[in-house]
Amino acid sequence: MCGIIGFTGTGDARGIILDGLKRLEYRGYDSAGIAIQRNNEINMVKAQGKVDNLVNLAVANDKLIGTCGIGHTRWATHGIPNDINAHPHMSEDGKFAIVHNGIIENQAEIKEKLLKKGMTFKSETDTEVMVQLLSFNYNGDIKKAIMKTVSEVTGSYGIGVLCTDNPGVIYAAKVASPLIIGIGVGENYFGSDITAFINHTKNVIDLDDNELAEIHKDKVIIYDYKGEEIKKEIRKVTWDIAAAEKSGYEHFMIKEIMEQPAAIKATIEPRIKNGKIDFDELNLDILKYNRVLITACGSAYYAGCVGKLVIEKLARLHVSMDVASELRYSDPMIDEETLVIVVSQSGETADTIAAIKEAKSKGATVLAIVNVVGSTIAKLSDYVIYTWAGPEIAVATTKGYTTQVAVFYMFAVWAAKKLNKIDDKQLEEYTNIIKHLPERAQRALDLNAKVKTLADKYYHNKSIFFIGRYFDYAVCLEGSLKLKEISYIHSEAYAAGELKHGTIALIDEGRLVVAACCYEPLLDKIISNIQQVKARGAEVLALAMEDNKKIFKEADDVLLVPKTNELFMSLVEIIPLQLFAYYVAKNNKCDIDKPKNLAKSVTVE
Ligand code: AGP
Repeated sequence: MCGIIGFTGTGDARGIILDGLKRLEYRGYDSAGIAIQRNNEINMVKAQGKVDNLVNLAVANDKLIGTCGIGHTRWATHGIPNDINAHPHMSEDGKFAIVHNGIIENQAEIKEKLLKKGMTFKSETDTEVMVQLLSFNYNGDIKKAIMKTVSEVTGSYGIGVLCTDNPGVIYAAKVASPLIIGIGVGENYFGSDITAFINHTKNVIDLDDNELAEIHKDKVIIYDYKGEEIKKEIRKVTWDIAAAEKSGYEHFMIKEIMEQPAAIKATIEPRIKNGKIDFDELNLDILKYNRVLITACGSAYYAGCVGKLVIEKLARLHVSMDVASELRYSDPMIDEETLVIVVSQSGETADTIAAIKEAKSKGATVLAIVNVVGSTIAKLSDYVIYTWAGPEIAVATTKGYTTQVAVFYMFAVWAAKKLNKIDDKQLEEYTNIIKHLPERAQRALDLNAKVKTLADKYYHNKSIFFIGRYFDYAVCLEGSLKLKEISYIHSEAYAAGELKHGTIALIDEGRLVVAACCYEPLLDKIISNIQQVKARGAEVLALAMEDNKKIFKEADDVLLVPKTNELFMSLVEIIPLQLFAYYVAKNNKCDIDKPKNLAKSVTVE
């Protein structure tokens, strides 16, 4: 969602901030803005639409020449996306400019109070309320004014502040919205994530909730909200710049699809010791729990759907599932004997964070499967397994999802052994299969040169159904989401046996049905479903193991999946569907990396 960058140093703040905003575009936004401090005044420019619109205005404005400033990409929550509601927002007296991620829940009361004091407002945003409150609270000490202001607001915020009385200094504070400080040489940064400034420095300080950073070009001081200075560690980010750039690919999504073998390897390899999956580093006593509940949103939830099946099959632990946005309000049946597994690429999804809080309030233990180190979800959870996928920039997750599935496989096998459901020989056998998944994923990419041709044939469809059973169904859920989010084609995933209970009414002449047929024990069942839809005129694109001869007689076309053990095939099986979604979206000329209305990390409810 919204992105933030701040810079102070000796270089060209305008150029650095505009470049940072381009890097933050992937998060999803509808307007952008920049404010530069110079000669005890703050000047700003804002523009609706793409960052390029802002760049055109900003480079033509000499008042934006300076060495200290803040920038923002906004994803509208309060007020429509337009120039006025875009950030930064300035106080009426011109003394303060602020950029803000999050939502101020009590903004209406504060605004009413400030209106009574004679203040006026230009925008419909909660952020303008915050900057006006800051100005109202100011009497010469900016730190005190920020602390007073944040103590009066409820909700979530990551803020960056400029004040004309403190030239060359940028301030940052946060509650429940990420902010990272970048430590350079003679220059420093803050950002809503590392991609904002990764081309300048990889040394970062993670700002925690209720901390205020005072950032000068040559020093950074962090305070708690009592005003006490606190020492924080500098962490070195292992991602490199190339990981956050397209490196010759047309889109981040296709680059990230292609990166999957390496990402899966990075996830798996460190957890194999002496030929066996080893999660002992976690120190988690799995014997303490009588059930597991998996919660997450979107694709992370669908990775959990695969996780549920494999944990139940191998470890024989009861696993229930709930999407995080529902779990938080459904008074879930969880207690001290429940292990809640949360899954999140970004580690910042608001609904998932709320689900963690709900689970912890009921005494459950929370294990997080997360990609972003130091993220809010990682910090809130009792145990963390990182997916090591590297930065994922495309809004549609690909390597994020497959590395989450890889973690579930390893966790299921590890738990099965701890619970004595498998013996040493099986542990080694399963470990060996998992170890070779990166090669299988590579083969899935190699096998699917044909996907583009099939996308050329089918991209004009207006509605596409995905059907499958058991593990195949779990993959269909993600395959269908992938297609709809980037190509805007209506699609639905159905458990194949459910079709006849209603949805088959929608199957008619020329309707495309993607049938996942990789789980061989149920092959005959899915073939019957294929025959049912074909009898009603549907075209069938099957997803099948490469040695499956039968399927060529049943389907119109086949997407091939490399032969993989049926318990661990979902990770490989999704790859042709990712490619199919990508090429269909490309043929439809969609904005693949930044689909309309979507944000990479959904930090509001
Ligand atoms: C995936 O392609 C989606 N854009 C979305 O469903 C995403 O998986 C979901 O919002 C959860 O995000 P998270 O993994 O960062 O928590």
